[in-house]
Amino acid sequence: MADILGLGITHYPGLTPLKARPTSLLRLLQDTGLPERYRTPEGWPETMRREWADDAGAAFAEQHRQTIVAEIRKTRALLDDFKPDFIVVWGDDQYENFREDAVPGFCVLAYDSVEVQPWARPDTPPNYWKEPPDKGFHFRGHRDGAKYLASRLIERDFDVAYAYRPLHKPLGHAFTNSMLFLDWDRKGLDVPIVPFSVNCYGRRLIGMKGYMETLATPLNERDFDPPSPSPARCFDLGAACARALLESPWRVALIASSSWSHAFLTRKHWYLYPDTPADRTLFTSLQTGDYAAWRATPLAAVEDSGQQEMLNWFCLIGAMSELKRKPDSAVFIETCIMNSNKVIATFGA
Ligand SMILES: [Fe+2]
Repeated sequence: MADILGLGITHYPGLTPLKARPTSLLRLLQDTGLPERYRTPEGWPETMRREWADDAGAAFAEQHRQTIVAEIRKTRALLDDFKPDFIVVWGDDQYENFREDAVPGFCVLAYDSVEVQPWARPDTPPNYWKEPPDKGFHFRGHRDGAKYLASRLIERDFDVAYAYRPLHKPLGHAFTNSMLFLDWDRKGLDVPIVPFSVNCYGRRLIGMKGYMETLATPLNERDFDPPSPSPARCFDLGAACARALLESPWRVALIASSSWSHAFLTRKHWYLYPDTPADRTLFTSLQTGDYAAWRATPLAAVEDSGQQEMLNWFCLIGAMSELKRKPDSAVFIETCIMNSNKVIATFGA
């Protein structure tokens, strides 16, 4: 019988290196466009200085990782108990398959299966699991479930794109990392995945090629691409997914995968640290089930706060609103130096 489990996780790439480091911050500090006063801890907020400490953030980075992993392990336990037929993961496409040749707002990836080698690029540092560069992972897809979901959405006027094979990369990092993190202890994770790509980066997708702009050569208004779908549209789409899946024969875990405000998208902070007050406001609304506040959030506010990737979470919250479910657990993991705040949340069946 149909049932839904809701989970919110992160796919933060900073969890994967053997040595955890504030990678984006270290890169920013090399940017010649960064004003001199922000180049050293003296110019940073107190919390940021404390996290950086006297080891360039190394100890904090490891502690941050362990805190996140402990929470993700709990989501894995819930997933195992729920025994889904497949999972649907809302994740951003960071210039992976959404490139110059086609950028939909949403794309349901109806793959039979996919092979990934996450450590194959020569510039990839040694990974936490000490897996070799040629280590491959085989993820099963769920073509029937993906086609069903895309069909019901299109019939209900959410004209999403779909794909039977990738255009460029086998799978975006949002999905690969979600699978790798949900199997952090490498006991195996044989649950089929329906990746549901969201064009979270919108105006900055092609211009930034899915990562950070440099302050030395910033994007102009003219370089901006058309926008991402609005938070309200993501919310309504998530609600429509929940309705469709409840009418299906399947048990499905709906998973939002992304960190919250990103330092490297928060221009008003010179890309040094994320917009924690904005994250806290949405987190409070999440805890209390005030989902109307989520739906009313304008895209401009999301962009101003570097919360672009949270559009994945707007899909999940729309689904949970439809099911009238508040979180049974929600943890806010705050940081300045590790690029983004993370939230891990569960919405039990
Ligand atoms: Fe991402």
